[in-house]
Amino acid sequence: MTGTTGTPAGPLGAPAERREGRQKVTGAARYAAEYTLPGRAHAWPVPAAVARGRVRAVDTSAALALPGVLAVLTPDDAPRLAEPEDGTLAVLQNPEVPHRGWCVALAVADTLETARAAARAVRVGYDPAPPDTGFTEDHPGAYEPQEANAGYPGRVEQGDPEAAFASAEVRIDTVYRVPPLHNHPMEPHTSTAHWDGDRLTVYTSSQGGGTVRSVLAQLFQLPEEQVTVVCEHVGGGFGSKGTPRPDVVLAAMAARRTGRPVTLAYPRRYLPTTVGHRAPTRQRLRLGAHADGRLTAVLHEATTHTSRVREFVEQAAVPSRVMYATPALLSTHRVVPLDVPSPSWMRAPGEAPGMYALESAVDELADALGLDPVELRLRNEPDREPGSGKPFSSRHLVECLREGARRFGWDGRDPRPGVRREGPLLLGTGVAAATYPAAAVPATATARALPDGTFVVRTNATDIGTGARTVLAQIAADALGVPLDRVRTEIGHTDLPPAWLAGGSMGTASWGWAVHEACTALTARLGGPLPAEGIEARADTAGTADADSPYARHAFGAHFAEVAVDTVTGEIRVRRLLGVFAAGRILNARTARSQFTGAMVMGLGMALTEHSTLDPAFGDFAEADLASYHVPAHADVPDVEAHWIDEDDPHLNPMGSKGIGEIGIVGTAAAVGNAVHHATGIRFRVLPLTPDRIL
Ligand code: MOS
Repeated sequence: MTGTTGTPAGPLGAPAERREGRQKVTGAARYAAEYTLPGRAHAWPVPAAVARGRVRAVDTSAALALPGVLAVLTPDDAPRLAEPEDGTLAVLQNPEVPHRGWCVALAVADTLETARAAARAVRVGYDPAPPDTGFTEDHPGAYEPQEANAGYPGRVEQGDPEAAFASAEVRIDTVYRVPPLHNHPMEPHTSTAHWDGDRLTVYTSSQGGGTVRSVLAQLFQLPEEQVTVVCEHVGGGFGSKGTPRPDVVLAAMAARRTGRPVTLAYPRRYLPTTVGHRAPTRQRLRLGAHADGRLTAVLHEATTHTSRVREFVEQAAVPSRVMYATPALLSTHRVVPLDVPSPSWMRAPGEAPGMYALESAVDELADALGLDPVELRLRNEPDREPGSGKPFSSRHLVECLREGARRFGWDGRDPRPGVRREGPLLLGTGVAAATYPAAAVPATATARALPDGTFVVRTNATDIGTGARTVLAQIAADALGVPLDRVRTEIGHTDLPPAWLAGGSMGTASWGWAVHEACTALTARLGGPLPAEGIEARADTAGTADADSPYARHAFGAHFAEVAVDTVTGEIRVRRLLGVFAAGRILNARTARSQFTGAMVMGLGMALTEHSTLDPAFGDFAEADLASYHVPAHADVPDVEAHWIDEDDPHLNPMGSKGIGEIGIVGTAAAVGNAVHHATGIRFRVLPLTPDRIL
């Protein structure tokens, strides 16, 4: 994997190595299950076996008779919690079963093996009710929500989209389907909880310990100062650890009950029902255009499902409000509440499935027009954000497309589908654009200068595997004007100055802003000799909420893919993936490339292998382990290149950076799908592109 532009002079942008890399590869880095506190016990959940109904009775006698079992918590006797804002955390509070897999009891024992055996020995009686699990467009329960995720209006309508579409010279009217998808981080959702009187300490695998603290304080009715959350290393989250999940609540309840520290590592096979999924989408795309390719109408209608526990609306139609100039726009969402597990955040929620559909439809339009798909996109470049009318803070999609085309060797491509052959293989290439919002939220940081010439920067950031410690040190060293090795960073603990979670591709922009300000303030005070304890500066930054900004702020990108489709087996292999991104200033060339290419590989999985099948009889997913939920393995990952355009956005944060955690997955699946169409001449509109669909 190659590719960077320029060599930065200072610490900012340098390909600094991850500071915790050695700890991780030697096993010295501690994860949430590895805090072996004295007397630590283990917990194992009992998932509901019915799709809907009530727990009639829980017989714990056989479980409690096992040697080493400390307790079995049930809906009858578990500690009572204050009502959570997020209904998925109201575990063991009442006998209702909203979906299969919902936790109905929790066994606690001296060892993990005993806890598991005890959970299996628990007998649960149910009063089942017939479930409603079928996700269909015309479901009588479907409705149009006021808001989709992340506060987006459910509907945006401009001009007269229906009339504009009906009168367009060229029309595309298609439906795309993306199945349920699961985040499946390597480290399962895990928490170790410990009470000392009315003080609660948890070591947890989360994208943001600050949120965990405030949620636990509210649930257990404690002042926040009595809750400490440590989140030192996280083995991946991809959105599924963005907010607290039942593991941390259950671990705290079990520790409360037993008086012992308790670890709950949620078993892999129960994760799909418990920690969220990307909800399936059915997206209708209608594009109308002049014969020269200029769009006259964009209609993007997304339907998705949610659970009965809470409304969560995958905002799949939102990217159509960002991408292309059009006089008539319709972007809407519908949602069907079902007796299914609660969907939640998954990397680039909205944009990942939404841009699969939009960018596939744009490719179909290019085909109908006989126009090169790169050229079609160039002809529809807007000068303002279509959905809001705001100017862009920076937008270099055109440069990404041109640079990507140059590096990929797009010129000279034979546009005809199905003409490149290698024995039984059909070869093709495809392109798709990418976008993801760029924003920042409030954060606090301190910077301290010590008499030995070193500096300590503190903020409750979280490293979910991205290298947050490293990039924050780079931001600090740059602001302080000192070499990188003089700066130490402390993150991942609620005793540190508060900061928001690693999510929405906003972590570095938000924390880094506060670090930059604290270091700048500290620099102004340096000069004389320092007292023994050093001197410290603190900064509270406000971030910039979307509504407050006069600019539309987004990262952009362009993906190019080459595929080989086996006409005998139906197997698709991706041969090359190349992405070019315009994501503000790149703060660390090494970790940034790693995030881009990692997300592109996740997009490759979305295109070819990943799917969860919701069994309508049980309202549960058929794939519940990594043997059946197929993420790309090494042999599936070809030559993946990530490059970027030099972009320095002055309207975001003092570093000029945008987020980079999510944009890499956006557009990848469409580029692969478009390449498959180019290879075969057949348009597949359902993901993933598994051999059974191809043959
Ligand atoms: Mo990301 S899905 O906002 O963690």
